[in-house]
Amino acid sequence: MAKILLTTPCLFGLESLLKNEIKQLGYDIESVEDGRITYRTDELGICRSNLWLRTAERVLVNMGAFEAKSFDALFENTKKIPWEKWIPKKGRFWVKKASSIKSQLFSASDIQSIVKKAIVERLKSVYSLSWFEESEEDYPIRVFIKKDQVSIGIDTTGDSLHRRGYRQLTSKAPLSETLAAALVQLTPWQKDRLLVDPLCGSGTIPIEAALIGLKIAPGLNRSFTAMQWTKSIPKKLWNNALEEANDIRDRHSKLTIQGYDIDDSILRAARENAKRAAVDEQIHFQQRSIQDFSSLKKYGFIITNPPYGERLEDKESVIKLYQDMGRAFLNLDSWSYFIITAFEDFERYFGKKSSKKRKLYNGMMKANLYQYYGPKPPRN
Ligand SMILES: C[S@@+](CC[C@H](N)C(=O)[O-])C[C@H]1O[C@@H](n2cnc3c(N)ncnc32)[C@H](O)[C@@H]1O
Repeated sequence: MAKILLTTPCLFGLESLLKNEIKQLGYDIESVEDGRITYRTDELGICRSNLWLRTAERVLVNMGAFEAKSFDALFENTKKIPWEKWIPKKGRFWVKKASSIKSQLFSASDIQSIVKKAIVERLKSVYSLSWFEESEEDYPIRVFIKKDQVSIGIDTTGDSLHRRGYRQLTSKAPLSETLAAALVQLTPWQKDRLLVDPLCGSGTIPIEAALIGLKIAPGLNRSFTAMQWTKSIPKKLWNNALEEANDIRDRHSKLTIQGYDIDDSILRAARENAKRAAVDEQIHFQQRSIQDFSSLKKYGFIITNPPYGERLEDKESVIKLYQDMGRAFLNLDSWSYFIITAFEDFERYFGKKSSKKRKLYNGMMKANLYQYYGPKPPRN
């Protein structure tokens, strides 16, 4: 059995997608909770998970889980964990983040300092040291407590996985790359079908779709914290994972993806981002307002993230926009469209009830993905 337990947090609502992604990488799922999945793998699995998981936020080495209703219990149980398996004598370790939900221990700063002290105590006795240099590689620790159940992990990722490295320019309300990848994967879109985002902003949905269509690993253009851990994860394993990603990448298919927006300046950002993601040849960006959007093509897909009108003064213009979207989309005979918005009355103004509605979180904001399924194209 693979010997490393990994836990990967994700946005609420994306657990089933992430579970499928992990299974596709070939790993066994241990447990699925709200916003977190735990699975078994090996050292290479740390590299492959970071490179490939499109809907995860980060990848943690799961160091242990226990109940703690007091700081004493937190200290003693943390001290029992074999931290020396991962943290070497000169490693730099600190509790990067502690969060607590419905638990007796709730002060993040106290949890952080108790956990750090317990790890120091453990490593002092194992390494027979009284003082740690902490001069070498990083081991950021994350503590999550829910209903007094503590879960502690070492972060292998660093900057959150949604930071693919291609998006340096964004619109006012950009969609996270992980959520954009999730939207694409929640639809039946396939790489041989036309895909349009008519309110594309900085291009996140078209770019993530192109990465998915061409099987490009989302983490190819960035580094990860665990790349520094050369004693536990030999460089060779990262190279193997990168080589695999380069082999899998589809260099031949030509996709038909289009991104439109009313704002020309944001389209310049979208083009730049697509170029950095090396998918600029796959996406046609053009200035166009939704009122002018039409197409003679059949069986296309729309996946889009319009403004939500969170501020009261924006509400009226958003209602008008949804009415315009309704008029434009409902003319597209045979198309399927998928719209994410936090605006409760979306269907009323859009003018059609969705075939399916799925609750998702855009950051902390509750939103719905309204799904309208068109017919499948006839088989040739
Ligand atoms: C929420 S943002 C989209 C963000 C995008 N998903 C991203 O990740 O950057 C909504 C976009 O709709 C565009 N928009 C607003 N009204 C429009 C209209 N009438 N026609 C076309 N685009 C419009 C805005 O310029 C903005 O870029």
